[in-house]
Amino acid sequence: MYQKLQNKMDVQAIKLRFEIIGTSPLLDRAIDIARQVAPTDLTVLISGESGVGKEVFPKIIHQLSARKHGPYIAVNCGAIPEGTIDSELFGHEKGSFTGAHDSRKGYFEVVNSGTIFLDEVAELPLSTQVRLLRVLETGEFFKVGSSKAIKTNVRVVAASNVDITNAISQGKFREDLYYRLNTVPINVPSLKDRKEDIHLLFRKFAADFAEKYRMPVLQLDPEAVKLLVNYKWHGNVRQLKNIAEQISIIENKREINAEILSKYLPISQYRDLPVLYKSEEENKGISERDLLYKVLFDMKKDIHDLKKVVGDILQNDMPSKELQTKSNQVLQHFKPDFMPVEEPHNDINIHPLTSDHVVEPLEESIVIEESLSIQEKEKDLIKKALVRHHGKRKNAARELGISERTLYRKIKEYDII
Ligand SMILES: Nc1ncnc2c1ncn2[C@@H]1O[C@H](COP(=O)(O)OP(=O)(O)OP(=O)(O)O)[C@@H](O)[C@H]1O
Ligand SMILES: [Mg+2]
Repeated sequence: MYQKLQNKMDVQAIKLRFEIIGTSPLLDRAIDIARQVAPTDLTVLISGESGVGKEVFPKIIHQLSARKHGPYIAVNCGAIPEGTIDSELFGHEKGSFTGAHDSRKGYFEVVNSGTIFLDEVAELPLSTQVRLLRVLETGEFFKVGSSKAIKTNVRVVAASNVDITNAISQGKFREDLYYRLNTVPINVPSLKDRKEDIHLLFRKFAADFAEKYRMPVLQLDPEAVKLLVNYKWHGNVRQLKNIAEQISIIENKREINAEILSKYLPISQYRDLPVLYKSEEENKGISERDLLYKVLFDMKKDIHDLKKVVGDILQNDMPSKELQTKSNQVLQHFKPDFMPVEEPHNDINIHPLTSDHVVEPLEESIVIEESLSIQEKEKDLIKKALVRHHGKRKNAARELGISERTLYRKIKEYDII
């Protein structure tokens, strides 16, 4: 009895510490298993549909283990190109392949005494699976191009949002590796199995976004709550969070009724509700289009502002030092949107008016504008192909003329639900 109460309190403390929202017994159970298995060195496989919240579990396991002061690294196996994944994980020797100018340590060497989280583990190529099985069984691995075994002490936590047993039957995943990884399974429940958490999660996200965007919190009326709870959340918590954000940004009203909410929920996913006929155009999701327009509008406005500032600089006959300062201010201002690479503006040399280089920022902004709109188009095409094929990546990839792996990477890159 006392022990039960203690366990319950421990689970609550973990939820608070890792900001996990929910009261469902299935979620509590998953957290409780993570808590119990953490101090051991057992390998854990976390399963659950996309967007259920798997990524916090390896962190819990690492933090509650004796390895917590050791390194922790999360590797997205699906996002690393097949040709380099062995080298990323296990390192390589100089000259082991074209372009290997130096030897390099892999994650299994760097993370010695810590924890590696292998996310989307089902995406590992078969040859890498062999190497992984070996390191799990013997604690030893070989660098690519080396025959010297290296010892390592790494705890592996893996996750997958696809049913690995299907991958096994298709010959894409080694059965022996599956059993080795699945020493302790943790299943993170889908929202459909924890409906009691749906409104709670929405309220939490609405409050977070209200704070972020400095506006009053959204309120759902009782009909809207019913709709929210009965909706089929295929993208689970991630989708719920995105929708809470979309409504927070787009709606002026803070009281949200079922009619307003329904605009944001793709019709094909309604549950327990009569299906309304909508034209194909409408089915594509009004909310998505609104959001896209907003993003494009903001982008255009930024580019317009940028052009204006650069134009002002060009017209004013400024001494080059002042020009440099002003240019740096401009670049600083636009950095979050346009400059994901580290501090490039330090190297940019803005010359006085007579120089051809001065026009560079203008040309750059046009290029960026174009490439962004191409990306948006690509994202849109991928989304539509996925809807058409009911989320079946294989068929969508075939239609798009790209490999399943590339499609997988693009889904991650564009954060497509
Ligand atoms: N219980 C929860 N409380 C608060 N936020 C949550 C919860 N579960 C998930 N989230 C949030 O939902 C989003 C998706 O979670 P996460 O990235 O862990 O999904 P996932 O299971 O790894 O999905 P995928 O398989 O697609 O990678 C994250 O922003 C995460 O913070
Ligand atoms: Mg994930």
